[in-house]
Amino acid sequence: MKMWKDTYKVGVEIIDEQHKELFRRISEFLFSLRNEGHWEDKLPKVKETLEFMQGYVVIHFEDEEEYQKKINYPELMIHKEIHDQFKREMITFSERFNDSDFDEVQVQKFARTLLAWLIKHVAGDDKKIADFIRAQ
Ligand SMILES: [Fe+2]
Repeated sequence: MKMWKDTYKVGVEIIDEQHKELFRRISEFLFSLRNEGHWEDKLPKVKETLEFMQGYVVIHFEDEEEYQKKINYPELMIHKEIHDQFKREMITFSERFNDSDFDEVQVQKFARTLLAWLIKHVAGDDKKIADFIRAQ
């Protein structure tokens, strides 16, 4: 399952590499959820992905915001707010998982949200950075 597309490229190597890694990890996550087998056996992957999303993603956001600052990107503050919102959602999901003891329905919902968000963000919000660079 390959979900990354070259059309998602922003044209900045570090950002594109990080995006590729995000797509790779999320595809892997979705794939493992779809596998047959006991829900309990899938939980390590769920926890690993959640930790990854809260670690790697935060670093990625910082790098992306740093880059936007460097090029004087006019929509930095709006973009940063989108990142912050996402970080808050990850924390909410994480709390919900702990409260519900990693209920399958909650996790499946999380997985769908994650993929939809990533595509929308990379192909939409982040693409605007590329448009800005090109217009310079
Ligand atoms: Fe972004």
